[in-house]
Amino acid sequence: MPTTWVDALLHKAREKGASPYPHQAAFFLNNPVRRALSKPGRIVDGIGLTGTERVLEVGPGPGFYSVEIARRLTYGRLDLFDLQPEMLQKARRQLEQAGFHDVGFTAGQAAEGFPFPDNTFDAAFLAAVIGEVPDQRACVRSLGRILKPGGQLVFAEAFPDPDRISVAQLRDLAEPENFEFVDATGNRWRDFVRFRKAASN
Ligand SMILES: C[S@@+](CC[C@H](N)C(=O)[O-])C[C@H]1O[C@@H](n2cnc3c(N)ncnc32)[C@H](O)[C@@H]1O
Repeated sequence: MPTTWVDALLHKAREKGASPYPHQAAFFLNNPVRRALSKPGRIVDGIGLTGTERVLEVGPGPGFYSVEIARRLTYGRLDLFDLQPEMLQKARRQLEQAGFHDVGFTAGQAAEGFPFPDNTFDAAFLAAVIGEVPDQRACVRSLGRILKPGGQLVFAEAFPDPDRISVAQLRDLAEPENFEFVDATGNRWRDFVRFRKAASN
């Protein structure tokens, strides 16, 4: 059991892929250098929200993108789903400090299905998460169930995440699960990849 953020990061490095990014080291995710380089607002703009959507963010960690998503949902609603309740607590703090109180928080394992009804969400956003999920196919299948037909499934993957997966791997995961590839933008340092749930099975 890691006791400090150093132990936690070393443990994560040894267990690459199989273990979640440790909540003890959450401050690294929210650091100002990352914020300046990756511009979370610009990334969230890429989802193309109109402001009325129901959005699920899977693996928000301490909320690096969550505040930017909430800011764009004038009449919509954001739900956060993360394996680690400690991460949800940190994200809640960020959101409340920014004045966003109508956000859902659910702790759970994304590989074991999401506790939401069918066809609930207009968009699901996963940044630096899918590579940590033990059964990625099950996760994507379950997202297909809770997204509305035509709903968006959006991935952001970036260096230096050791669990980063490629656009080709994302397509291999999503396309067999009834998602249509929309586009992929980025460069060698980052990928932003959008899929749309097919209108019918
Ligand atoms: C590397 S962090 C990324 C956090 C945030 N998206 C960001 O980019 O700053 C990965 C997050 O996904 C969560 N996570 C990892 N595996 C998960 C799983 N199987 N189910 C739900 N959440 C998971 C971790 O707890 C952690 O908060």
